[in-house]
Amino acid sequence: MPQIVQKSRSVSRRSVVCSGLAAPAVIGTALLGDASPAAAFRDNVTFGDVHILRFLAALEIIEADLWEQYNEIYGIQDSEVLGGSGNPTFTKALARLDADMSQYVHDNTEDEVSHFMFLNAYLQSKGARPIDLGPFRNLVGSSAAGSSGKKRITNLMQLTVDTSWWTRYRSRTANPDLGGTFAPVIPGLLNGKFPAIPRNNGDVANSDHVQAIANTAAFHFGTIEQGGSSLYPQLAQRVTSPEVLRILLSIGPTETMHFQTWSDKAGNMIAVTDPTNGLMFPDPGSFDGNEDLQANLIMPEPTVFLSSSFPVCSIIRPTETDDAAARAFAGLKASGLFIGQSDSFFATMNDLAAKADRARRGEQGERD
Ligand SMILES: [Fe+2]
Ligand SMILES: [Fe+2]
Repeated sequence: MPQIVQKSRSVSRRSVVCSGLAAPAVIGTALLGDASPAAAFRDNVTFGDVHILRFLAALEIIEADLWEQYNEIYGIQDSEVLGGSGNPTFTKALARLDADMSQYVHDNTEDEVSHFMFLNAYLQSKGARPIDLGPFRNLVGSSAAGSSGKKRITNLMQLTVDTSWWTRYRSRTANPDLGGTFAPVIPGLLNGKFPAIPRNNGDVANSDHVQAIANTAAFHFGTIEQGGSSLYPQLAQRVTSPEVLRILLSIGPTETMHFQTWSDKAGNMIAVTDPTNGLMFPDPGSFDGNEDLQANLIMPEPTVFLSSSFPVCSIIRPTETDDAAARAFAGLKASGLFIGQSDSFFATMNDLAAKADRARRGEQGERD
């Protein structure tokens, strides 16, 4: 572990305050000119660690915001997950994929809330500023029955959903980290902007439209959670503190547990074509015998990892760490999840991502 030395005289008060990265006690030390070595954050947590944790906290707030919208429509509203009252028509449509979907939506939502609350509390415990995306909670969400109607950070009503994770995890020969590319299992979801929740009560009128919206949600669940499954191991490679590493190694696999569940459930999609926009979901039984598509191949197939000179290995993919935060946020942006958001939202998130991506294992990292 490198020692973290507080170069007190070289740090202006403004740069420290603006970074949001130093506790008042540290600022005081800097102003007093105490040259004695002191950790900038408690317990040898580096500036780089804090940048990574802050980006993850922001993404977890985003995840919680979108999952709360799903829970209000499709999930179970209770003391563990507050908000909304459920939409029976859409809950029933999603339950055609699995009778327990509402429970799974509820539990995924609660998990995301716990992730950002923990990360923010941990940041504060080390003298770092937590993340608050409250100023960006301005989007008007669903007005359909069941929705709480509160303002949102994310938009689930104009999604372009990349379902290439389906073939990526079934491939035995390709890895995105080694240049592999993968076809989406539902190509239509990449060619338009589709609601994953009812936009208003008019969306209930046609049963095929209802089912297509529920199917879209079912695939979007997997798309979101496979992203988390990669992001934690990607960023874990660049943290320094063993405790921060423990946090990333402990949260990350819960994202994978979510992904595994959604990967299984999406394979129960109901064959339907949306009469309002032509979005088509095939009969998953038509995939039988095709290893790249077969619905019950829900565990990762072994594939090439690090180098083709090694035997294939069953792994999370991708895990390349370079620009991982920026790529994760860019992927979410490309999906339409933030349609309607302000320039300052994108500037804030891009800044958090860039700082996380500049963190290096074993280095103190930048203060601002
Ligand atoms: Fe999460
Ligand atoms: Fe997640």
